[in-house]
Amino acid sequence: MSGEGKVVCVTGASGYIASWLVKLLLERGYTVKASIRDLNDPRKTEFLEALDGAKERLHLFQANLLEEGSFDAVVDGCEGVFHAASPVQLSVSNPQAQLLDPAVKGTLNVLQNQNANSVQQIDSRPKECLRYQLSKILAENAAWDFSKDHGIDMIAINPGMVFGPFLQPSATLSAEVILSLVNGIDPFPTMVIPWVDVRDVAYSHIVAFEIASASGRYCVVERTAGCCELIKILTELFPNLQLPDKCSNGSPLIQLKYDVSNEKVKGLGIEFMPLEVSLKDTIESFKEMKLVSL
Ligand SMILES: NC(=O)c1ccc[n+]([C@@H]2O[C@H](COP(=O)([O-])OP(=O)(O)OC[C@H]3O[C@@H](n4cnc5c(N)ncnc54)[C@H](OP(=O)(O)O)[C@@H]3O)[C@@H](O)[C@H]2O)c1
Repeated sequence: MSGEGKVVCVTGASGYIASWLVKLLLERGYTVKASIRDLNDPRKTEFLEALDGAKERLHLFQANLLEEGSFDAVVDGCEGVFHAASPVQLSVSNPQAQLLDPAVKGTLNVLQNQNANSVQQIDSRPKECLRYQLSKILAENAAWDFSKDHGIDMIAINPGMVFGPFLQPSATLSAEVILSLVNGIDPFPTMVIPWVDVRDVAYSHIVAFEIASASGRYCVVERTAGCCELIKILTELFPNLQLPDKCSNGSPLIQLKYDVSNEKVKGLGIEFMPLEVSLKDTIESFKEMKLVSL
């Protein structure tokens, strides 16, 4: 185990990606200081406390992105900081207060602790919601500027649309795209999406932290696929599913295509889980949560 004796921090630990990050870090022997927005909410804490190794090596802290100094205690004494806390919402009434401030000011609040030697910042590729995209771009730019000025060794992990099984008790926004498709809820986006399994995203963070030569930004995408391809795979995996036979705008299921290069992250030794496996595991998780019946 390469993490034995090392202390690292994960922000937003109750989230989809961060909870997998906590699980994999514990499995590798790390001691993990993890921030949660509300420590009094058992749905955010209990599943993390039940992870293997958590009793001995997981320490939970309460921290809010909008409170200055909130992350000092959790970041203090850590060799690495995996920053995943950020609002993942598309529909907001006040984008500045609900998206931009927590993303940008929150990232700087995390970085402000000078004891952090290295920061992994999760960021996003553009999606349909401009305000969410903007929050991600501004937060990443602010983090690069701050890291450069303060000598922090930062790496950005830029995943595509993340899906795959859940550790937390409720589904998250990105995987809900699959839920909409399976449950026949309109509108299902007609665009081609870059997909990646949540386990590969979490693992990429760890590998990027552990390999000394890793640097810069990493696109973490297994494959791009539109609803046409997803429907084809889902029909083979789950023949009982009632799936749409046209896109939400009424157009036929036309296969468009573009690619995202994952060569750089593969250079770190990442072997991606195939889309088919991730799709199957996502649906199995939805079944366990009783969100789909098959
Ligand atoms: N999922 C994707 O497809 C995807 C793709 C690219 C990039 N990303 C980025 O990856 C990161 C994690 O995404 P995710 O899918 O794992 O989302 P998620 O499950 O919604 O997790 C987000 C986490 O951020 C926390 N958070 C939000 N606002 C906060 C605040 N004001 N103070 C403290 N914590 C706060 C949430 O806490 P609560 O649990 O208390 O709400 C939650 O733990 C985000 O930066 C996201 O933009 C995600």
